[in-house]
Amino acid sequence: MRNTTREEQLAERARTYIPGGAMNHAKEPRQDMLGYMPWYIERAEGCYLYDIEGREFIDYSSSYGPVILGYRYPPIEEAVRAQMEKGVLFSMPSPLEGEWAEMLANVVPCAQMVRAMKTGSAATAAAVRVARAATGREKVISCGYNSWHDWWVAKEGVGISKGIPSCLEGNIYDLEYGNLAFAEQLFQEHGKEISCLITIPYDFRGKPCLSFLRRLRSLTKEYGAVLIFDEIITGFRLSLGGAQELFEISPDMCTLAKAMGNGYPLSAYAGKADLMKLVPELQIDTTYAGEALSLAASLAVIREMRDKPVLEMIWHRGEELMTGLRRIFSNNGEILSVEGLPPAMTINPATDNPGAAHFKNLFIKHLYGQGVFYHSPLFVTFSHTEKDIECTLEAAENAVNKAAKEM
Ligand SMILES: Cc1ncc(COP(=O)(O)O)c(C=O)c1O
Repeated sequence: MRNTTREEQLAERARTYIPGGAMNHAKEPRQDMLGYMPWYIERAEGCYLYDIEGREFIDYSSSYGPVILGYRYPPIEEAVRAQMEKGVLFSMPSPLEGEWAEMLANVVPCAQMVRAMKTGSAATAAAVRVARAATGREKVISCGYNSWHDWWVAKEGVGISKGIPSCLEGNIYDLEYGNLAFAEQLFQEHGKEISCLITIPYDFRGKPCLSFLRRLRSLTKEYGAVLIFDEIITGFRLSLGGAQELFEISPDMCTLAKAMGNGYPLSAYAGKADLMKLVPELQIDTTYAGEALSLAASLAVIREMRDKPVLEMIWHRGEELMTGLRRIFSNNGEILSVEGLPPAMTINPATDNPGAAHFKNLFIKHLYGQGVFYHSPLFVTFSHTEKDIECTLEAAENAVNKAAKEM
């Protein structure tokens, strides 16, 4: 019998005590990737992950989006260390709260007022509650993934799954990104009941659809509904002011998280002052909202991104990666394609090739095997260098060849 590896031993213990073996579904060890994908990460530095065997991986998951500058990025670590000397959570607000909220209001176009939360799901739930309170209406249109909370999971198409009260059914409509005709239909049929439309500005598959977003802006205005951009991925990644700044479309409210804290747990909901001024009357509260280490980290992130060419470099490196991957895939029958924008891109199997999904899985396995950590979307950070992109493209070329041999 084969000896089990240390990874398998750790996974066995984790599966005994943690449902699914990890704290997030997406990070559960994948049996089919054993020996290729790193199941446990011991530490991270810059754009590199180091697993428990000391193997190094160039990371393109960036912790599922939050890491924008790089792991253990010195100015952020220094800001957090300095704050740690003063304390983490106090019985009254720290002065950082106002400083951070003002900074955010200065860079995010729709943000006249801001409140912090700890997770993206908490921020979207809060924004939707504000919209319902402001309009006195209950129904919601949602486009894209916005939350694991009941209000969102109850949406049509996602399905009333186990643990979700069936009374929530019919309160939330599922709008596919770009499906303008359905958006028009929903407003024509239910316009007077719709409190808000919450949408991701872009899903990094296909092209950004600005005509869709512009029409959502005008429809929500026309019907008196609140337009919320869920910028949990796009905020601080496409531009300092998020997709709303890049696309020049201003929503009434937005939600932010991920890149805003470079890995420190922080989210926010923000918007026009007349909406946000309702918050003190509403039951929206969480003990850890003003936790000072994350606020210190976020202030340092915003300063760093404001004062250095962080986003220019991320767009540039991302462009190099996209162009290189496209060249590799076009030399291999375009069984895979690259979509998205340079700061966040997806690799997709050709829809007209039945073997393409299997090919993609083999490709990913061999990327891991050559020290490149993949998860979709691929996020480039300020710490990725030209050399890292070159090494990644070399690994991708080898991975394509290895995958082709195994088909
Ligand atoms: C667009 C969007 N909204 C909301 C969320 C939920 O955020 P969290 O996982 O921090 O609750 C996510 C998470 O990936 C997201 O991508």
